[in-house]
Amino acid sequence: MSASNPTISKKPNWFIQFFTSTIGRKLLVALTGLFLILFLAVHLIGNLQMILFDDGGKAFNEYAYFMGHNELIQIISVGNFFFIILHIIVSVVLTIYNRTARPTKYAYSKPSANSSFSSRNMIWLGSIVMIFLVLHLVNFWAKSKFGTVEQVTYDGKTMHNLYALVVFEFENPVIVGIYVVSMIGLSYHLLHGFQSVFQTLGINHVKYTPFIKTLGLIYSILVPLGFALIPILMYIKSLS
Ligand code: HEM
Repeated sequence: MSASNPTISKKPNWFIQFFTSTIGRKLLVALTGLFLILFLAVHLIGNLQMILFDDGGKAFNEYAYFMGHNELIQIISVGNFFFIILHIIVSVVLTIYNRTARPTKYAYSKPSANSSFSSRNMIWLGSIVMIFLVLHLVNFWAKSKFGTVEQVTYDGKTMHNLYALVVFEFENPVIVGIYVVSMIGLSYHLLHGFQSVFQTLGINHVKYTPFIKTLGLIYSILVPLGFALIPILMYIKSLS
């Protein structure tokens, strides 16, 4: 080797090293999962306005207009899409790694006795949510951002009538069925995911863990139930 061409020893950056380790990947899944848990709660509260107020969608449309035009929310929205993609990719990598690292099943191991249905099927339940999300974004988000959505004017302010779009979609029983089945998948995914986030973050304490488990159970049932009720009630309303 000549003196003019010295060998440079490249040390991988500690940040990259950490987040490509198993514990780093678990932390990434937990942190992105926590963000998505918060997003879901906010999204549900916003959407519930469609069935709580009998105002022809005014409150919901104004809320959607605010969410679509506030600069801070726009930055959070980009982060939201980034976290969704990161959550999916890192979860898949972790699952593949876990399965290849433990290829043999012990004769005496009884997974059903030692773990819940949700924890054993996180990747499949997550896949249901992912397929739902793609259909959902094509149906609503893409139409709102790139399609032609009907306009409505309230107090001199013109905006997209997203409520009319949602009403139109939920007149279709097939779409309503897809939403309800997907929300069952989401519920099971959250049942394990919620408490798993806190376990990974090291929040494991005799005092707080029972509370986190109860909160996780309530959240995992009520949030998907709220999302499922919206298409069901709107479909019933469309029949009358
Ligand atoms: C009844 C159930 C739901 C309704 C009526 C609904 C409605 C909508 C609408 C109208 C939009 C477009 C908003 C806009 O572009 O201004 C939207 C965006 C979105 N929805 Fe939903 N949604 C429902 C459930 C869900 C669920 C269960 C998830 C996740 C599992 C979800 C994830 C998203 C995401 C990620 C966006 C894009 C948000 C952004 O622009 O940052 N939605 N939804």
